[in-house]
Amino acid sequence: MAAPGQSSQSATDQPEKLYLPQMTTYPDEGTVGQAAADLVAEKLRLKPASVLLLPTGRTPLPMYARLVARWRAERPDLSPVQTFNLDEFYGLPPDHPGSYRTYMRRVLFDHLPVPSDNYHLLNGAAADPTEECRAYEAKIEAAGGVDLAVLGIGANGHIGFNEPGSTLASRTRLVTIEPTTRAANAFLFDQRLDAVPQTALTVGIATILASRQVLLLVTGPSKAVALTHLLTGPVSPDFPASFLRLHPQVTILADREASSS
Ligand code: F6R
Repeated sequence: MAAPGQSSQSATDQPEKLYLPQMTTYPDEGTVGQAAADLVAEKLRLKPASVLLLPTGRTPLPMYARLVARWRAERPDLSPVQTFNLDEFYGLPPDHPGSYRTYMRRVLFDHLPVPSDNYHLLNGAAADPTEECRAYEAKIEAAGGVDLAVLGIGANGHIGFNEPGSTLASRTRLVTIEPTTRAANAFLFDQRLDAVPQTALTVGIATILASRQVLLLVTGPSKAVALTHLLTGPVSPDFPASFLRLHPQVTILADREASSS
């Protein structure tokens, strides 16, 4: 047994306590989005002052569309909820068309009565990124910690912008974005790869794992190998999403294409 506060490693250099995420497979990305929206809405129904950690990218778009439709119809009081985004490009002004802040406004916040003080994103134009990241961690803590983290996954195993090499202890910080991840984000920049920033601010692996519950969305054939790696591969910084197996409350919603490897 390892001393309290230390991670214990087995003879195979794997942590002793790994959890099996609870996984459900759906026919397609639309039904994954519906199930994810139902889960988020239920969370907020049970705890209106929930703190959410939210992703951008293509995967959560069906979830956001369904949340908007549902909340516009049901009109719940969204004023107690607090949201934090996982990451933001560094070197872009917040209102840049390619920024994640712009994405979040376009797909969610502009359609709902969420007070702008209640949603938080890292400032990609911060002059002092270290201080920006420190303050973001402090803000999450002051909000009471994250109740539910919603994540996507990169084909190389990144979560947030925690690219391969990110450690279990990593916190919110400035990182370099891998070329394949930049290419996957070119859709936000009119497919101009050279316009995608080289660096980003991201919450860390430790920040994500401190969330009380994690919901991982995995859709499309390009994620099948990553999903298998996450479920069966070694837990290692080489594949940062593998660290999710150290968390006891991870739910994976996958579509058939992503589950077929
Ligand atoms: C974005 C984020 C990333 C994405 C990942 C998958 O905020 O956290 O980790 O979830 O790059 O992106 P998509 O969904 O576009 O395949």
